[in-house]
Amino acid sequence: MTTRDQGGDDVQRVRDASDIVAVVGEVVSLKAKGREYVGLCPFHDDRKPSMYVVPNKQIFHCFACGAGGDVFTFVQRYHAMEFPEVIKLLAERAGIELRPRRAPASGAASGDGPARADLLEANQQAAAFYRSLLTHPEHGVAARELIERRGITPDMIEAFAIGTSPAMWDGLVRFAKSKGLDERCLFALGLLKRRDDGDGYDALRNRLIFPIHQAQTGKVIAFGGRRIDDEDEPKYLNSPETSLFDKSRTLYGLHQASRAIQKQGVAVVVEGYTDVIACHQAGITNVVATLGTALTAGHAALLRRLCTTVVLLFDGDEAGQRAADRAFEVLFSEALDLKIAALSTATDAKDPDELLKRDGGAEQFLTVIDDAQDLAVWHFARIRERLANAGPAARSTAVQEELDRLVSLGLSGLPPVRKKLMVQQIARAAGVDEATVYASIPGGRTRRHGTSGEAELKPVSHKPDARELALGCLLCEGSLWVSLAGEHRDRLSAHAYRSPMTRVVADAVQRLTSDGIEPELTAVLDDMAHEATDHPGSFDPVEAAACATTLRQDAWMRCEGKLERLSEMLTECLESIGIDDALVGTKNNDAEPAPEGDSALERLERLKSVQATYGKNPRVRLTRGGVPGQA
Ligand code: CTP
Ligand code: MN
Repeated sequence: MTTRDQGGDDVQRVRDASDIVAVVGEVVSLKAKGREYVGLCPFHDDRKPSMYVVPNKQIFHCFACGAGGDVFTFVQRYHAMEFPEVIKLLAERAGIELRPRRAPASGAASGDGPARADLLEANQQAAAFYRSLLTHPEHGVAARELIERRGITPDMIEAFAIGTSPAMWDGLVRFAKSKGLDERCLFALGLLKRRDDGDGYDALRNRLIFPIHQAQTGKVIAFGGRRIDDEDEPKYLNSPETSLFDKSRTLYGLHQASRAIQKQGVAVVVEGYTDVIACHQAGITNVVATLGTALTAGHAALLRRLCTTVVLLFDGDEAGQRAADRAFEVLFSEALDLKIAALSTATDAKDPDELLKRDGGAEQFLTVIDDAQDLAVWHFARIRERLANAGPAARSTAVQEELDRLVSLGLSGLPPVRKKLMVQQIARAAGVDEATVYASIPGGRTRRHGTSGEAELKPVSHKPDARELALGCLLCEGSLWVSLAGEHRDRLSAHAYRSPMTRVVADAVQRLTSDGIEPELTAVLDDMAHEATDHPGSFDPVEAAACATTLRQDAWMRCEGKLERLSEMLTECLESIGIDDALVGTKNNDAEPAPEGDSALERLERLKSVQATYGKNPRVRLTRGGVPGQA
């Protein structure tokens, strides 16, 4: 607690204001289960809810992949952020003003270019500028007319923070000057462009502005601008991809839609900004749009955390079909029920915006969504259509090509039900039986295509030994430390642990206790986060947090959450460690010498007395007892 006193209050204030159930609940659909919450773990390809969120301890823990920690660890891992960034983000979320810590080398972490926080701030200012212009007596007229014509309500203007850019080359330029905004940020964001002489000019002119929000925080990460004057080209101008904005991982409207998507378990993906807004306006709020691209595995991963079914609604033109074809690949990377509906075949409307303006349009829209077809079924139906008039040779080649493609996408590694569906479909398309198709699939495991979670999946942690279990007990109830005799404390010293990650945790316990702080999980997580920040590269704080949380949860489950049992278990563990240490040297090949003056006979005597108490194998007692609640 030397370098970290500064800002320590801040961390505490942010922690107090950030309920883990609320923060996790913003990105993962959580269900109450007893006094805890469960949901699909976002850190691996979770198919049944394995992640527990424990409100009274303010921790999360995944039983499948071992991810775990407190609210800071969750955000750190979820957004792949550094600890100080996490504090900032959660502080912003809670509306807490942080006291500036030592002036950091701003932006040093993100390489060259302005820092992320500065870019976000510049976007925020620009969004405020565009919004304010919408009510401007002169510069807002054309945009207000367009909004009127399109029937967008004030509620939607508000909810989607719609604005307008003036028909000027220097609207934003002047605003930036008047506000003292850093132009470098606006260049980096693509909002200003550079003339030959190096001066800046507005990139978005005379357009209706749709800010694109980051789903979790609602921060503006980019803009879409629709032309107001039909003569202007192109129809839409979007921010370029920046360090804030990755199109393949961003869905327009997700910030506004995520709650409804979670509630309904279904997300509808449409093609355009105005379609999203029209749907929300019609009360259909589980709707988002891709930003001029097909649905990617990145989009699917975002949605997978919120729901199980995604309906792609496309306009039915060639571009839409191609986008749907590409989305088919996503079936191999995310366990999602992906469905598809073509608006133009079900109705005569060209897009949702048009349909929803008609009488009864909303009902028709919902029917189209309900009738959406499984994407795999749709995909193979298209292939069958294509092959309808092909001869046997052409058909066989086409089917083999398709099969090769499916295999390279990861057909062999699909969950059985989905694999069977695919095989059925391709068998139908080829006019052969399923066995023939199965026979043509290589048995070897094919690497799954671009999965979001799987690469991060850590092997399930080993069964804890007595020392690890003792550490776990302390993490449950830090006050137990006080009751420990000196020799027992020594037994838990960091160097004695078998795994490097456990040593990191034990190190934190040592640091805390030597400062007179009880080594409860939360304190340990804090200490490790600071330690990792102070010594970058020494260990991965997210891994360490997972390790500490796993140790804690394991101990907690074993004693069924009972405090008396916890203290008993700690005593048993410490005795067992004592035995272990005493046994060191009874084996011939043991490298560690026995303590001075401890003859083989004496050790044998001690072993006998231990066995009298604990049975032949003292360690079994600790590991055999079933672990409640764990498979
Ligand atoms: N789009 C784009 N760039 C373009 C055209 C389209 O990024 N030059 C993206 C936008 O996200 C747009 C979507 O594709 O919302 C659908 O395009 P389109 O159907 O042409 O536009 P609409 O959303 O129907 O827009 P509007 O109703 O305003 O005509
Ligand atoms: Mn439209």
